[in-house]
Amino acid sequence: MKIIRTVQEMKAEIRKLKKQEGSLGFVPTMGALHEGHTSLFQRSAEENDWTAASIFVNPLQFGPGEDLASYPRSEAEDMEAAEKHGVDLLFLPSVQEMYPRPMTTVIHVKKGAGVLCGKSRPGHFDGVATVVHKLLQIIPADRAYFGRKDIQQTAVLMNMIDDYHLDTKLVICDTVREASGLAKSSRNLYLSSTEKQEAAQIYESLKLAEMLWEKGKQPDEITEVVKQYITEHTSGRIDYVQALPFPSLDPLDTASKMWVIACAVYFNKARLIDNITVKAG
Ligand code: PAJ
Repeated sequence: MKIIRTVQEMKAEIRKLKKQEGSLGFVPTMGALHEGHTSLFQRSAEENDWTAASIFVNPLQFGPGEDLASYPRSEAEDMEAAEKHGVDLLFLPSVQEMYPRPMTTVIHVKKGAGVLCGKSRPGHFDGVATVVHKLLQIIPADRAYFGRKDIQQTAVLMNMIDDYHLDTKLVICDTVREASGLAKSSRNLYLSSTEKQEAAQIYESLKLAEMLWEKGKQPDEITEVVKQYITEHTSGRIDYVQALPFPSLDPLDTASKMWVIACAVYFNKARLIDNITVKAG
């Protein structure tokens, strides 16, 4: 595995690859790698001739008062995990390398950012779309792999890729969970062991939601039950529980074939998100 820290070097590597036959997969991350991330590396390695990954804690997607400074960093372990799970090129740029000056042109997400996480994290998805657009200029992969756990992120980025006629296909990969059902997340490191046990109830509440959905209950009824379940079974503070059509995330898109039931819950320092997708009708 090659470790690359500059944009120029990474572009040179990509030019070399593009002279050969074969496909390139790309997995962007912010590091503190866990099995959720490594499942994306593995999927890319299975489906492509080469896999590139990036580790970059993107300041643009953190709001004031969020955990940018304390975001967990573990570069040495991350390098080992990336190499072990099939990454050929690991891009590890500094903030100075990615943003040598304040950005003069940024992407503003106009659709799908005002709901779910976008509501309590204003500007977050602009930061995500901007950095992923930058990364795809540096690493114009055939396929880019993203986790279903961050379902709003996948919806926003699918639109961004269409809007800008990018040649990269976005591949959505299933959420990897602990045995308890808790979705793996770098932010789980913030949880105490009691909180970790409680946080596993989030998935239980979503499984209950899925059952109610299959019984034909209405989205509003279901989100109320989920809220009540989380309140009764955890000490977490609910940010939102919402059911929306996917991928439009537009409440008026009632003809959508897929829906997402998503939630965000605060446990002291950690804000955890999770979701399930269900079929309409
Ligand atoms: P990060 O939170 O590091 O996540 C990187 C990728 O791993 C995302 O696509 C995310 O959905 C996926 N992922 C995280 N936990 C997962 C799990 N339990 N199962 C499956 N996939 C999981 O998402 C970001 O970084 C950033 O916003 C980024 C896209 C890199 C832009 O800065």
